[in-house]
Amino acid sequence: MLVTNEQRIKRDIEILKKFTATPGAGVTRLSLSDEDRKAREYLIAEMKEIGLLVKIESPGNIRARLRGKEPEKPFVMVGSHIDSVVKGGAFDGVAGVIAALEAFRTMQENNIETRHSLELVIFMEEEGSRFGRALMGSSFLCGKFGIDDLDKFRDSNGITLKEANVALGLDVDRPIKRLQPDEVKAMLELHVEQSVVLDNQGIPLGIIEGIAGVRWLEVTLRGVADHAGATPMSFRQDALRGAATVIAAIPSIINSSGSPHTVSTVGKLECNPNVTNVIPGEVKFTIDIRDIDKEGIEKVTSKVKEFVKKVAKDNGLNHEISIKGDNAPVYLSKKVLNVIEEEAQKADFQYLKMISGAAHDSMVLSELTDVGMIFVPSINGRSHCPEEKTNYRDIKLGADLLLYSLLRLAERIV
Ligand code: GLV
Ligand code: MN
Ligand code: MN
Repeated sequence: MLVTNEQRIKRDIEILKKFTATPGAGVTRLSLSDEDRKAREYLIAEMKEIGLLVKIESPGNIRARLRGKEPEKPFVMVGSHIDSVVKGGAFDGVAGVIAALEAFRTMQENNIETRHSLELVIFMEEEGSRFGRALMGSSFLCGKFGIDDLDKFRDSNGITLKEANVALGLDVDRPIKRLQPDEVKAMLELHVEQSVVLDNQGIPLGIIEGIAGVRWLEVTLRGVADHAGATPMSFRQDALRGAATVIAAIPSIINSSGSPHTVSTVGKLECNPNVTNVIPGEVKFTIDIRDIDKEGIEKVTSKVKEFVKKVAKDNGLNHEISIKGDNAPVYLSKKVLNVIEEEAQKADFQYLKMISGAAHDSMVLSELTDVGMIFVPSINGRSHCPEEKTNYRDIKLGADLLLYSLLRLAERIV
């Protein structure tokens, strides 16, 4: 039986783990950073080694083609991402890229040919950790942004996405070719689960039915910076006190919204001037809101907006709320899910059908083509942290299922 190679999967993941800006404190590989460039170089060399035709497109997506016998037919796409959150883990995104690469290697070694071409895709900036927009590479590829938007995204040092693209040697003048629905037959992505469902039940594989939607809000509260000792309590317009009141109220806002599956996180906060003896004059913080039910996101958003307005008024603050990202929940293709499920059954693999709480580029692609996702367990459910871990034998099993599903979708000939 055709199987992928666990040792090669392990080797690749351990090599990529070393490309981090925070050695000893997890993986920090922001998109188009030095660490990301090194990871790209390594992967591109590996792809060329097995004869893939590699292209890099603005804003930094890597697309590597394995030609099928009938290249005029729509291709089957497979991949994930290699950027990380700050102090994240070695498996998020990388497991899917390496599983796809390994599936291609296994096909090549076994002289397997398919009717449809296959394309390994590595999406630029899935996490939104550098330029502030999650699912960025897939959003550009699917035409949600174009070449003129490269100027609009900036990192925390003021470097624009356009400048980072120029530094990578990309052409920033020619329009970005938007992926057309008739070019692509289907997209597959393997990913680590990032929660406890599979690990708790001892099941090695998940087949994904839907992905929770995600909205990012940015709240700015402006008060008056003033002396911490000399200003009486009742005279203060303390932006951080307002922010703290909002943040502390989020669990009860969710409870009262009647949407039991909604989750929300404040993960980033900037306090200005951030000095011990100065009353905070301005605070900016993000609110990440997610649910598989769009209604849940809407209800929590409007309750949050109402509450921020009230807190601002009570504390004498100005407020602003902007949407920094918005991806609706999606249900994935039943056709592709059936293919993955049949292949799992044929191979006698144990699996669970489930919903993804985390976001993935696959959700953007699902607007354009039939998409399927395979999950492998995260040990203790840990993810977006240095402790993130998945057993290599589970990734190998996932890579096998990915390979079988790809061969079905791309129509294996020999
Ligand atoms: C990406 O990992 C996300 O779900 O935020
Ligand atoms: Mn990911
Ligand atoms: Mn992630």
